Amino acid sequence: MIKLAVTAALAAIALPTCISALGLDQAAVAAGLTYFGTATDNPELTDIPYVTQLNNTADFGQITPGNSQKWDATEPSQGTFSFTEGDVIADLAEANGQYLRCHTLVWYNQLPSWVTSGTWTNATLIAAMQNHITTVVSHYKGRCLHWDVVNEALNDDGTYRTNIFYTTIGEAYIPLAFAAAAAADPSAKLFYNDYNLEYGSTKAASARAIVQLVQASGAKIDGVGFQGHFVVGTVPSQASLVSVLQSFTALGVEVAYTEADVRILLPTTATTLAQQSSDFQALVGSCVAVDGCVGFTIWDWTDKYSWVPSTFTGYGAALPWDEDLVKKPAYDGLLVGLGASVSTTTTATTASSTASGVTVTATATATTTTTAAHWGQCGGSGWTGATVCASGYTCTYVNAWYSQCL
Ligand code: XIL
Repeated sequence: MIKLAVTAALAAIALPTCISALGLDQAAVAAGLTYFGTATDNPELTDIPYVTQLNNTADFGQITPGNSQKWDATEPSQGTFSFTEGDVIADLAEANGQYLRCHTLVWYNQLPSWVTSGTWTNATLIAAMQNHITTVVSHYKGRCLHWDVVNEALNDDGTYRTNIFYTTIGEAYIPLAFAAAAAADPSAKLFYNDYNLEYGSTKAASARAIVQLVQASGAKIDGVGFQGHFVVGTVPSQASLVSVLQSFTALGVEVAYTEADVRILLPTTATTLAQQSSDFQALVGSCVAVDGCVGFTIWDWTDKYSWVPSTFTGYGAALPWDEDLVKKPAYDGLLVGLGASVSTTTTATTASSTASGVTVTATATATTTTTAAHWGQCGGSGWTGATVCASGYTCTYVNAWYSQCL
């Protein structure tokens, strides 16, 4: 009887740790990734509840500036540079101890008109591009874990996108850009970044050719960014994603998901939200499964500030938090994909017990959990034993404070 009472008291003390799931970055790091992160943008930083969660390093270990390091923001007129907005985000990440993914140096979009409408020769455009890269990368030297050096150089059919750089310089603009970035900050990892590579189609083959082009030129390329912009229900299977990621790591480069979102035709339904959760789970799960997949970034974290509604008519709800900053099923999908335990239902329970003459009363949350892996904590209903582990696993208390699905 006394032994039972002691057990009950310990379980009551242990309960809060059993029901607190890891945050997304914590789970990502535990699963072997370098980070889980999010994009953000300067106009949102006046929204205090938004910033409070952006600063939550349990979920976000990495930040990407959504716009403020792009060419139109950093060099609006030739030779005149502006880093004020980009610095705000770099400083925020640094203050929080979050990695910074720097984005982006050479892209056909968000270029100032002096670039797109200039009169260029091969030599003058190379010089302007090198000056842009050298100045921007030098400014952020030592602060960028990654730089997206070249963004979206390919059409969906795998041909080179026609842009001012390609038409004036030819494909050589790509290795030239990587060489300039490497010279300005040897410690930043340099990425080629694009969308729709995830299907492993011709476009992915062309992106691998870009990696090999840069490597053959003698310049450095460290990684390929998979943007990860999807319509709900169109995400390939995890196994297929794994094989595409591995086709890149086989070339000796890292991979990362850099801008993930899964847009839904509005209004959402329980079914589409559940599908979105499975889609995010497959995406992040594929990263966990691939050696050399270093991180996973969502393109902002709340639907309140997603680029989707203004870009894809009729679509929205693409992110793991809704417009009221409330977590959606996709948040749990990400956690499961990262191998963490996830609370699925909660009800309040009050219990009291006596151990060694001392009465302990605890109001607890009875929780049903699911888990995709065996390393994390399970449980949640403590002494009632109403714990659910994934098929094949049993929730076991390793000690009074820690349980695992074993
Ligand atoms: C988007 C931003 O989120 C928007 O605010 C902006 O109006 C347009 O660009 N691929 C990229 C990102 O590499 O830089 C884009 O970001 C989204 C698509």
